[in-house]
Amino acid sequence: MVLYLIGLGLNDEKDITFKGLEAVKKCAQVYLENYTSFLQCSVQELEKFYGKKITLADREMSEQGAEKIVDEAKSKDVAFLIIGDPFSATTHTEIFRLAKEKKVPVKIIHNASVLTAIGITGLQLYKFGKTTSIPFPEEHPCLETPYTVLKDNLKLGLHTLMLLDLRPAENKYLSINKALEVLEEIEARKKSKLITSDLLVVGCARLGSDDFIIKYGRVSELKKIDFGKPPYCLVIPGKLHFAEEEVLEGWK
Ligand SMILES: C[S@@+](CC[C@H](N)C(=O)[O-])C[C@H]1O[C@@H](n2cnc3c(N)ncnc32)[C@H](O)[C@@H]1O
Repeated sequence: MVLYLIGLGLNDEKDITFKGLEAVKKCAQVYLENYTSFLQCSVQELEKFYGKKITLADREMSEQGAEKIVDEAKSKDVAFLIIGDPFSATTHTEIFRLAKEKKVPVKIIHNASVLTAIGITGLQLYKFGKTTSIPFPEEHPCLETPYTVLKDNLKLGLHTLMLLDLRPAENKYLSINKALEVLEEIEARKKSKLITSDLLVVGCARLGSDDFIIKYGRVSELKKIDFGKPPYCLVIPGKLHFAEEEVLEGWK
């Protein structure tokens, strides 16, 4: 039997690949990891389109329960659905490793990820440095990591992708406006003059959907924009090639 790790892409039930859909249809058990990202459709819409009952896998089931899921695939075909691409969140490498260790056949069906879709901004993917995340500030009052990562990337002229925390089960999403305030708050402590109100940044919401939003502008401008529904991310450009600048200007 096989454990399938299937990427769902970024938008809705129809973003699954044909190969992914074929695999889901033959599985006896289908799990959906729904805590690291967010789709623009409901679980019911996924179930209807795939013709399968879906079991939601929260962080605990996906991480501590990974062994149980892998063991289940010894006696039946199991699908583990991941929003975006299976390998774009560090958490899912563990279930892959575990399947290999237990000698359970595992097949990966890739899909689009925020890590590639961000190329729509015009920023060249190979000029991105380390990706970082901004967590909810109330849980990390002394946060420094995103600022340190940004500093290191900027030294090399590289762009910085910042993923913004989310907790779909609680309908809680860190907005772009709030993320910029978090960066300003770190700036006030660290004083390296990286984040100023004039700094040009890129805010993105719902990449991959028809109503995606990308805005390129100053921190002071982006803080006033309502980006609508999640998920959101932020990019702080490094050194720009003129071709990148041309596309970015279109998002002003
Ligand atoms: C931990 S990553 C998981 C990435 C996902 N597995 C993928 O391949 O796209 C989730 C974060 O990526 C960002 N993100 C994911 N999808 C996005 C989208 N469609 N538009 C903008 N940002 C997105 C958000 O910051 C979100 O909190």
